[in-house]
Amino acid sequence: MKVRKAVIPAAGLGTRMLPATKTVPKELLPLVDKPVIQYVIEEAVASGIEDILIITNRAKSAMDDYFDYYPELEERLLRAGKYEEADEVKRAADLANIFYVRQKEIKGLGHAVWRAKRFIGDEPFAVLLGDDIMMGKKPVLSQLIEAAEEYRASTVGMQLVADEAVSSYSSLLLEPVKDRVMRVLDVNEKPTPEEKFSNYAVLGRYVLTPRIFDILENTRPGRNGEVQLTDGLKQLCHEETMMAVDFEGVRYDTGNLKGFLEATVDFALADDKVGPWMKDFIRQKAQML
Ligand code: UTP
Repeated sequence: MKVRKAVIPAAGLGTRMLPATKTVPKELLPLVDKPVIQYVIEEAVASGIEDILIITNRAKSAMDDYFDYYPELEERLLRAGKYEEADEVKRAADLANIFYVRQKEIKGLGHAVWRAKRFIGDEPFAVLLGDDIMMGKKPVLSQLIEAAEEYRASTVGMQLVADEAVSSYSSLLLEPVKDRVMRVLDVNEKPTPEEKFSNYAVLGRYVLTPRIFDILENTRPGRNGEVQLTDGLKQLCHEETMMAVDFEGVRYDTGNLKGFLEATVDFALADDKVGPWMKDFIRQKAQML
């Protein structure tokens, strides 16, 4: 079982980040000097992915432009001796083979993943949510791919979340298998405290078998009238083996304002160019509070 292709659903309306996301896709908002989705694509590439399909919508064509060449800009930078900047601009277009398909109606994450059916064909594939950034010493997707290949099974990324956060995620019923790897017995979308299976929540990264497409095709709209990927996962884990990896790494949900600001501060602190300046700036501010 080799995982070569990835799908990045990025067609959501981003209503939690309005008004900025009225015209700028939330996936293109910058974290220090790169757009959010570039971090996601870099993780996929570092995990061995070759072909990437971005699920987009009619208001997000700026994403296609970002991952294209821009000869006028590159030439201008080269003429000005700005070689590093020219390289960075071009590098974005050369990261991977990137393809696009539109989700013509914004009918939920499950529906967005289903749009990848023809691109994926009959092989296992990865899904990375376009606004979820994972930072691990070892790329988080590669941790999932290892388990998926070892157990020849769909595999989801998970971490423990606080009691008050469980109802914002999908909660997992699990059977321990080995360190950091468990078998998924069931999953519930955004459960109430009474409905939750555990504090282990599914977070933003998946490796799935193509069986998910037939399931999603027949999945009725659930919560909010949207086709929920979790409802598809529920059926998939009852039909086939599904594993979950308690991945090592930090997750940033940049699709909400607090997550976006946390990522901005952390990434600025870790950046070679602005990190030392940011540290001083935060120290000064902290003294004033
Ligand atoms: P989110 O729920 O985080 O995104 O979906 P959203 O719908 O844009 O968020 P808000 O609530 O309006 O702020 C998780 C992922 O699924 C994608 C989103 O782009 C995000 O990457 N998605 C969601 C789609 O591609 N299509 C959909 O119909 C819904």
